[in-house]
Amino acid sequence: MTGQELPLNQILHGDAVQVMRKLPENSIDLIFADPPYNMQIKGNLTRPDFSKVEGVDDNWDKFDNYQAYDEFTSTWLKAARRVLKPEGAIWVIGTYHNIYRVGKSLQDLGFWVINEVIWEKTNPMPNFKGVRFTNAHETLIWAKQNKSCKYTINYHAMKPFNDGKQMRSTWNLPICKGKERIRVNGESAHSTQKPLSLLYRVILASTNPEDVVLDPFFGTGTTGAAAKILHRNWIGIESDQTYIPIAQERIKRIKIEDFSPEAFNIRDEKRLAPRVPFSRLLETGYIKPGQSLYFNQDPSQAAKVKPNGILQFGKFTGSIHQTTKHILNGKPANGWLYWFTKDKQGRYISIDLIRENYRKDQNHSSGEKDKIS
Ligand SMILES: C[S@@+](CC[C@H](N)C(=O)[O-])C[C@H]1O[C@@H](n2cnc3c(N)ncnc32)[C@H](O)[C@@H]1O
Repeated sequence: MTGQELPLNQILHGDAVQVMRKLPENSIDLIFADPPYNMQIKGNLTRPDFSKVEGVDDNWDKFDNYQAYDEFTSTWLKAARRVLKPEGAIWVIGTYHNIYRVGKSLQDLGFWVINEVIWEKTNPMPNFKGVRFTNAHETLIWAKQNKSCKYTINYHAMKPFNDGKQMRSTWNLPICKGKERIRVNGESAHSTQKPLSLLYRVILASTNPEDVVLDPFFGTGTTGAAAKILHRNWIGIESDQTYIPIAQERIKRIKIEDFSPEAFNIRDEKRLAPRVPFSRLLETGYIKPGQSLYFNQDPSQAAKVKPNGILQFGKFTGSIHQTTKHILNGKPANGWLYWFTKDKQGRYISIDLIRENYRKDQNHSSGEKDKIS
């Protein structure tokens, strides 16, 4: 690797630390790491019918002791920190075997935890021995470079993944099975292939199109596959040569119909939009003092707007949010979504739409306000 060039959309063969040390510093927007878990599996695990369970018994998951694992973890995290941009972020996934140790290392190095996300597996593997609860989740730590630095979060854009509500830190997703699971000669190609849905969420939530996502433990290339689908650049590092052609072929087969910026733009317009207080709509003539507002389009629940944007609802006075809460018997709610004006034809128009029109007019200076006066 020469100069400051990044080997975009390529898999680099080698040890994660050695390869990261050759990458330019401050060059990566997001790191997703699914490092060895140090599961310490001894002997074969079998089902009650004595068939063999495909567990994680690979050589790459073996460490002599906790100390060796801790050294490995802090070394690769240091290398990761160097290549990450100041406003970049890192996700690390793990299980109870390693995630506490990874979390300590992250914090010791100065990373600042943004969220811990629990991936709850909808179809976990049972505990075949029946000696404890089945491990039905994995933990992801999402961290930024330090407490004060910025990072990317597509906050509003993630709401559709939780029925339009604020995205939660618990994600219910199936493990990678069936058609999604890559097989070679009938056997799983990799013991820990992650579901595409998991990486899809991670990348969508915390990067923008054309950002660079680095995965230092690439395996079957799930990170690269999700990045390509989402029009992000990716770089993979993998020490085991056998996985590389499998991942390359997987990513090559993904075809995207439309790479236009519009198709991928989920920049959070709502968050980026300037805040518009309700009173602004009065002082700019979009809503008139004395005008009636109707709660949920119900003519029997009308309020009058005072010149400062306060509503008079019977004997109650308050902001659009306070009045909404009053009507909903104390349940807090976003008043913008409950109140409507009526136009000359008697059609109800949401004040949220009026606010949108105000914003558009500010952007285009093209005055649509006559529509609603
Ligand atoms: C838990 S798996 C990652 C699986 C991957 N997320 C997927 O969906 O296929 C860890 C991967 O890291 C690789 N690995 C282990 N130690 C490594 C190292 N020091 N440098 C680079 N890769 C390493 C292993 O070969 C393995 O493929």
